[in-house]
Amino acid sequence: MDGRTKVYGIIANPVEHSMSPVLHNLYGEQTGVDLVYVPFKVKEEALQKAVEGAFALNVQGMSVTVPHKQAVMPYLAEIDTAAADIGAVNTLVRTDSGYKGYNTDVPGLLRAVREEGIIMQGRKCIVLGAGGAARAASYMLAGEGAEEIWILNRSLDKAQALAGWLNRLTGKDTAKPLALSDYASIPGSGYFAIQSTSVGMHPNIDHAPIEAPAFYEKISEAYDSIYTPAETKFMKYVSAAGGRAFNGLNMLLYQGVAAFELWNPGVRVEAAAIKAARRRIQELLEKGKA
Ligand code: ATR
Repeated sequence: MDGRTKVYGIIANPVEHSMSPVLHNLYGEQTGVDLVYVPFKVKEEALQKAVEGAFALNVQGMSVTVPHKQAVMPYLAEIDTAAADIGAVNTLVRTDSGYKGYNTDVPGLLRAVREEGIIMQGRKCIVLGAGGAARAASYMLAGEGAEEIWILNRSLDKAQALAGWLNRLTGKDTAKPLALSDYASIPGSGYFAIQSTSVGMHPNIDHAPIEAPAFYEKISEAYDSIYTPAETKFMKYVSAAGGRAFNGLNMLLYQGVAAFELWNPGVRVEAAAIKAARRRIQELLEKGKA
């Protein structure tokens, strides 16, 4: 580090388990960009001061995560259209007048899904969950031209709210809300499913949002937003029913790559750097440090 080193960081609470400092410092080393990326633990009541303070300190960009992804929006100079649509920001890019907010969860998920050769155009899809992760997943599916998006959630009212939001945004009636327990009313098979609940995440590895094997007969490809454990119970059910299942690690990696490339226009994080980051995260997960 010297006087020219650019400073980046993540604001979150808690922040101790974030993988982002590991990822971005590694991408900095691998691309030759002179930067340092640090964790900032920010309490909810201090968010505005934190954003203004970071700008005053010439911090070049920041990641934003739980619990600040929505709350940060009033303190930004500008918000990218997709982030405004989704109502959540996870990346701040410095401009002359303040930070501009972006959401790289959607491009991160999109890249991860495309890389597995999964077709979304004209596809019948299922989203499990109705929180922030499900919102990003359903927004991506609608943007890619999915024909049907069943939104399944434990509480039906939240599924209805999410489906209503998506249908208003797209002007179509692609999204259909359903309680998790009513999965049997989804017709046929061959669905692409995105698991966006927190069920099955370490340490609760013996749970899946739906425990009935019959549900998994409907799914031919599935993406689980969880990456710890590497194979969730949901993924095991999908595989046992003959489907292909992937975990959320690539989404984590690619949302970070998208942020890094927004901060450093013209710089590309190459496959070798991403591979090194994947290995590093897997090591940390094995050591139980994340
Ligand atoms: P995120 O921003 O990560 O999506 P969230 O907004 O808290 O997190 O959403 C968590 C999702 O996991 C919700 O869909 C939640 O269902 P409810 O809306 O019914 O609460 C779902 N979820 C959490 N625990 C669950 C459980 N034990 N069984 C089923 N769904 C669960």
